[in-house]
Amino acid sequence: MANNHIIAQPRPLSALLYIAFALPLLFVVYNTFQQSNYFTMSSEIKNVIIIGAGGNLGPSVLNAFLDEPSFNTTVLSREGSSSTFPEGVKVIHADYDSIDSLKSAFKGQDAVISLVGGSALGDQNKLIDAAIAAGAKRFIPSEFGSDTVSATLREIVPVFNAKYATVEYLNSKESSISWTSVITGAFFDWGLKVGFLGFNAQSKTATLVDNGVAQFSATNLRTIGQALVRSLQSSNLDATKNQYVYISSFTTSQADLLSLIEKITGAKWTVENVSSAELKKRGDEKLAKQDFSGIPDLIRAGAFGDKGLSDHRKLLWDEKLGLEKENFEETVKLGLAGKLAGEKL
Ligand SMILES: NC(=O)c1ccc[n+]([C@@H]2O[C@H](COP(=O)([O-])OP(=O)(O)OC[C@H]3O[C@@H](n4cnc5c(N)ncnc54)[C@H](OP(=O)(O)O)[C@@H]3O)[C@@H](O)[C@H]2O)c1
Repeated sequence: MANNHIIAQPRPLSALLYIAFALPLLFVVYNTFQQSNYFTMSSEIKNVIIIGAGGNLGPSVLNAFLDEPSFNTTVLSREGSSSTFPEGVKVIHADYDSIDSLKSAFKGQDAVISLVGGSALGDQNKLIDAAIAAGAKRFIPSEFGSDTVSATLREIVPVFNAKYATVEYLNSKESSISWTSVITGAFFDWGLKVGFLGFNAQSKTATLVDNGVAQFSATNLRTIGQALVRSLQSSNLDATKNQYVYISSFTTSQADLLSLIEKITGAKWTVENVSSAELKKRGDEKLAKQDFSGIPDLIRAGAFGDKGLSDHRKLLWDEKLGLEKENFEETVKLGLAGKLAGEKL
């Protein structure tokens, strides 16, 4: 009885000690795990910020997210940038040289998508650091092209080392943030429109690399947007975590494209041949003189050369992500008319 009586007594001192020591300790442990996104890594992505959404790829990605009401989409642009965005889109400007400025831009964001181009490609670690500091769960680096995992390809196109190094950096930060890197091959519709795929609709000239026989995978811009949306949806968030995700609209060859283009245009095109070895030599020589027009030469050597380094068919996630099938002939017609897939002829 006496013992029971003692047990039933309140213990103000031990309760106070608990509040004084145990609660702060629990708070610190909880915060540490929360900052590392341990509990929330696989939970829903709601708030998405897109960096560099006004470039070549950006508008298609931005449109895909704006069309998906389950995401709150914000754009991040450099202070002083002249990029423009559709009316009504929330745009934040930041000083990319200030981690605090970036951190405050990323505050409350679940996912950060980097679409930066040019020299910024080798400078994405600061974006990653700020995303981690702000507590974002997923970072998508500016990849969107050739398979930079391939050491052979990186030897042909050394600037790809910057993209590869960014993912290596993300690898080293996996306890703090997850990542997804999207390999698209060439931009298919954009590549036809601007001539990157080797076809000039004005002069009806085709420039084939190594006779144009190698198969290459390539993706329309709107499909890249769709793939990013799908990658961040709850149903795919675990599957795409810390993964290279390969996508495509089509896998074809320059020679097959030429046949279709001659059928569509009803004309015989002038064919110029260039070897991947010539392109590599020319590209390296230009770059040695700081002439950056050498980069597309090198990318073409890698993408269309006879080593077939851009044939991603065995790696594709198209079905897993439920990407819509696209019409090849329709896209080629649009590209030749200077339009992207989804636009009107
Ligand atoms: N597979 C292909 O065929 C293909 C073709 C083209 C590009 N790509 C790849 O796709 C990605 C996006 O390329 P893109 O051509 O769309 O890029 P881009 O048009 O050259 O630039 C995109 C945005 O990056 C921001 N930016 C530019 N310079 C910057 C700098 N120094 N520091 C920070 N931000 C900067 C700008 O946004 P703000 O002005 O708003 O700050 C710009 O609008 C890249 O990874 C690129 O390699 C692939």
